[in-house]
This record gives sequence, C-alpha cells and structure tokens, in this order.
Amino acid sequence: MIEESVIQEIKDRSDIVEVVGDFVSLKKSGSNYKALSPFTDEKTPSFFVSPSKQIFKCFSTGKGGDAIEFLREVDSMTYIEAIKFLGEKYGVEINDSEQDYNTNNEKESLMIILNKSKDFYKDNLNSDEGKSIALSYLEHRNVSRDMIEKFEIGYSLDQWNSLLDYLSKNQFNEDQIQKAGLILEKNDKKYDRFRNRLIFPIHNISGKVIAFGARIISEKKNQPKYVNSPETPLYVKSNVLYGLYQAKNIIRKSDNCILVEGYTDVISLFQIGIENVVSSSGTSLTINQIKLISRYTKNITILFDGDKAGINASLRGMDLILENDLNVKIVSFPEGEDPDSYSKAVGKDKFLDYVKSKETNLITFKVDLLNSTYKDDPVKKSEMIFDIVKSISKIPNSIKRSVFIKEASNSLDISEQALITEMNKLLMNSENKFTQSKNYINIEKEETAKKKEINSAINFYERECVRMLVNYGTSDFEVLGLDRKSFIEYFLNEIEDIEFENKNYLKIIEVFKNEFKSNRVIDINYFLDDKYNDIKEDVIDLSANKYEISKQWKDKFNIHVSDEIDSLKKTTYTNILRLKFRLIRKMIKDNLKNLSKSDMINIDKETLELHNKLKSAEMEIAKQLGNVTTV
Ligand code: GTP
Ligand code: MN
Repeated sequence: MIEESVIQEIKDRSDIVEVVGDFVSLKKSGSNYKALSPFTDEKTPSFFVSPSKQIFKCFSTGKGGDAIEFLREVDSMTYIEAIKFLGEKYGVEINDSEQDYNTNNEKESLMIILNKSKDFYKDNLNSDEGKSIALSYLEHRNVSRDMIEKFEIGYSLDQWNSLLDYLSKNQFNEDQIQKAGLILEKNDKKYDRFRNRLIFPIHNISGKVIAFGARIISEKKNQPKYVNSPETPLYVKSNVLYGLYQAKNIIRKSDNCILVEGYTDVISLFQIGIENVVSSSGTSLTINQIKLISRYTKNITILFDGDKAGINASLRGMDLILENDLNVKIVSFPEGEDPDSYSKAVGKDKFLDYVKSKETNLITFKVDLLNSTYKDDPVKKSEMIFDIVKSISKIPNSIKRSVFIKEASNSLDISEQALITEMNKLLMNSENKFTQSKNYINIEKEETAKKKEINSAINFYERECVRMLVNYGTSDFEVLGLDRKSFIEYFLNEIEDIEFENKNYLKIIEVFKNEFKSNRVIDINYFLDDKYNDIKEDVIDLSANKYEISKQWKDKFNIHVSDEIDSLKKTTYTNILRLKFRLIRKMIKDNLKNLSKSDMINIDKETLELHNKLKSAEMEIAKQLGNVTTV
C-alpha cells in the first residue's frame, strides 16, 4: 500500500494541465484549456481543463475528474498505476515493493509480473548465451545499443522453464504468471511461452510493459517467425500500437505519424532519427488504433512492405480512416523491401525523399492498386468501382468528396456523373436512416412532449441552482445592502421548501447542508473523494464554466451569463425563483389532470381550491421575477 501522505503529496504537486498535456494538445481558452476529446471522435472541442479547479471535463462523454481520473480514463490505468505515474512525473518517491503485488488488483499484479519478466529478458542479453546468440544477432542487424535500451529489447534463454523458475523464486503466483501470458501448459506441465527468441516488449502509453513480441533467431522448421503474447486483461491487441510510448511526443510535435508493419521497422527508423513511427504489429489497422493515433495527430503516413498481399488485407480497414477525417498518405516499397531494409540500404535522407516522392492519398492509392490488379476483368472492375465510390462517400467533407470523384473519374475512365449518381445513392441511404429516427421521435404524443418540456425546464433550473451552490458556495455577498452574508446561508434558506427532483442534486445539497451545520463551507474538491463517486461526476459537470458549456441551454432559455459573479445574489435569487415557478407550473398541470378526470358535475372541490392557490402563487412569483431585471 502507498501511504496516504505520499498520495497527498503527489496530488499536491501534480498539475492537471501538464498531465493532460502529455496526452492531448491543449489550447488556451479564457481561463481554461480546451481540446478535442480524447475519449470520442469530435470535430469541435468539448474537452476542457480548468487549472484553477484542477479538473477536466469532457462534455461529449460526460467524463470528468482530477488528474488521476484522467489517467484512469485515457490510459486505462488503475488508481495505483496513476498514482505511480504521477509520482514518477513529479519526483515523489514511492516505496514500491514487490511484496504488495498480491494486494493490488489483477491488472496491477499482471503488470508487475510482466515488467519483472522484461527485466529478466533484458539481463539475459548480457549472459553468455545472450551475448553469443542474441546480442550478436542484433549487432549483425546493426541495431544500436541506444535502441536496445530505448525499446528494452531482451532475450529468452534456450531452456524450457527459465522464466517460470525465476518468477516462482521471486514469489510470483503461477496462475498469475499464466494469466500474464508467459507460460503454456501441456499434459499438466507448464513451460515458458518464449524460448530462444529475441524479445520485443510492448509498452502501454505510460511506458509499462503489457505484452511481448518474440522473434525467432536461428531459423528452425515448423516454427513461426514471431510468437506474441496472447490477449490478457492488460493486452488487447487491437487497442495497442507498438512504439507509441517512445514516439508519442514526437508524433505530436511533428504533427505526423508514420505507420509501419513490423517491430524492426519501428526500431530501424527510430535509429536513423525518424522517431514519429509506430507499428500495428502485422494486423490491419483497427478503429481503436486510429483513434489512438488521432489523439496526437490527424496526419498519418502508412508505409507498406513491398508485397501486394499485405496491402490488400490492410486496405480493408481504410474506410475507417476516411470516416474519421484523417489525412492519410500511403507509400509502398519496392518488391522485397520493407522500411527496415530500405532505410538501411539508402539512409535517412534518401529514405525521406522516397517517402515524399511516392506518397499518394488513400483514394488514388486504391484506384491505382485495384486498376492494376483487375484491369481486364469487367466484373471485378465494376465491383472495384463501387468499392471506391463507397470509400469516397465516407469522407465527411463534400469538397474533398468531389475532388476525389473527379480524380477517380479520370483514372477509371468513367463519367463523373455516373460516379456522382452512385455516391448520392449511398449518401441518401445513410441519411434516410437518420431522418427515419427523427420521424420516430415526432410521432410521440404531444402530451408527453409537453410534459417533457416542463420537466426539462425544471431540470434546467434545478441544475442552475445547484450550479450556483457548487461554484459560489464559499462566497459572500451583500444582502439588501445591509450585512455581509455568506452565500451558503442564503442559499440553504431560500431552497428550504423545494423538493429537488434530481436525486443527485438533492444529495449534493445535503452534503453542503451537513457540512454547514458543523460550520464548514466546502467546495468541489471535497467531492473528489471516492466516497462521493455517485455524485462526483455531477459536481464536476456543474463546476465547469457555464459560458463554455451551455450554449444549447443559453439559446433555448435565453440566458445571459457574462456577469454572473458580479450579480451573484441576483442570479441565485432569480434561478431559485425560476425553479419555483416551473415547479408550480408543473403542479398546476398535474392538478388540472385530476380536474378533467372527475366528471364535470361533481368537480372536486379540493382540486379546484388547490388550483386557485397554485395560480396565485404562480402570479406572485411571476411578479417577483418581473421585478428583477433580467440577469
Ligand atoms: P524482420 O523480418 O526481422 O525485419 O521482422 P519484421 O518485424 O519486419 O517482420 P515482418 O515484416 O515479417 O512482419 C511484420 C509484423 O507482423 C511483425 O513485426 C509481427 O508483429 C507480425 N508477424 C510476422 N510474422 C509473424 C508470425 O509468424 N506470427 C505472428 N503472430 N505475427 C507475425
Ligand atoms: Mn518487415
């Protein structure tokens, strides 16, 4: 366990702007920072970081919280991992003894085992066997010492159980070792998965090893070239890019990501100073990998090995790239060459020249490739035309679409109009789906729609009231020009007779109330404690700057926010009044329903009386609202 005081120190030293800035490019926006959300695809930024409150908030996904929460969301770190990550970043020493690996959760212990194994494999490189077999192989391939260090390359001994023995000796649990994907079992006998192989550790974004790729060294029959870790709770292949940990900052700085096929391609390019490079490790690109890259840049250059088979397979995932509006350039290498061999043959400058001169956009690449493959087969050719039009239809930008249509028309020798007609059919189809669902909403009974509107207004003013509390709970203001009064006192007094419908808001108010009873005035930080997990998100949501978040609401209810703090009391007062007003309206409506149900001759006297009372209360509030100049 990490001591509470150490955790506190780490929290105190951490700056959320720096922490988030390691993962996404932040732009200053008023007193806050904003960015495209790392959790979703979006075109307009809805992700905010507040330096003063030390929190982030993503309005697309509703996620929000402190630096630790951010790390948990963005890099699926556990709480402990996040603390350790911050500890390292801010130089706070943590007694991270291996004994506590049992007490942490499963992912945590798997990670400890994998990183211990990584160290073991690294050390093997300097054993006699490692030197004569692995190091000499690396030297032979001109892999530098620096790269061996940077990518933590290792070697698994030519024995059945060396890793298992080592880990067992270090008190690691056999089930866990197996879960980490390090051992296999046959006839009740357990043995190491990786033997006599070069080990390429696969890191997560924060640099911890989550899996291994292992390359054969001496060619043997019936043995695969690579043996990789299986999927584990830590390692989901389709979510990981090899080299991203080492490359991420350079990718962001250069605003471009080079994607290659193999581990060795990444390392070779890195070695000659091309450091914005990652690998999808032999699989075709997945949507999650694309999302991962697009956190750092929208520009991807894909380098294909010089064999056509691989290219065809990889093209399947490419529409995803178009849909996500990334700029993709594609380069393929001469037959028999890959980025590793080619860069070694020609050196950095010529390599980059080659890439520049050969790079084509995705559609052109697809047109050329399919054109050359299926030129003389009319059936295949028409399939391919359809396929290309489909790809073009995925491009969100209409101008880009028409440019590509023109280009495809030229190289496929088909009239532009024919292509446009085909594409429009596709586009119409996808739009139809959209309008259908819209119509569906329209069919809803008017009654429910109205009710919804009232409820949404109530929700809105409830939200506004609690938002005032969360943001200004610690302020003072003048009451009627007389005494200074604390906001909290005023607020609690004003809302005493209101029953909030939103249960979370009720809870938040309850917390403020209880603390105030013991003379404590709290602010949002109080809610970051795990104890308040159920309402934490709401509090963070409420604490974000209204001006940035609620444009939609602003337009809908015509609310002005500019000088909220200057006229704190007035704002609070009117918000509470408005809430009361809407609540009363709702009560009137509900009551009227009773009225219409009872037959007209025996009109329920009570209902009528209540109606009159409510009406006069409504008028009273309306009058009060009318007296306050609009806020
Ligand atoms: P070198 O040939 O040593 O330069 O390795 P490479 O990384 O360039 O390998 P290659 O181009 O043959 O394959 C590209 C990637 O596909 C590799 O980095 C692996 O991730 C994956 N891969 C290749 N062969 C195998 C295999 O036999 N099994 C598995 N599971 N993956 C493989
Ligand atoms: Mn290769």
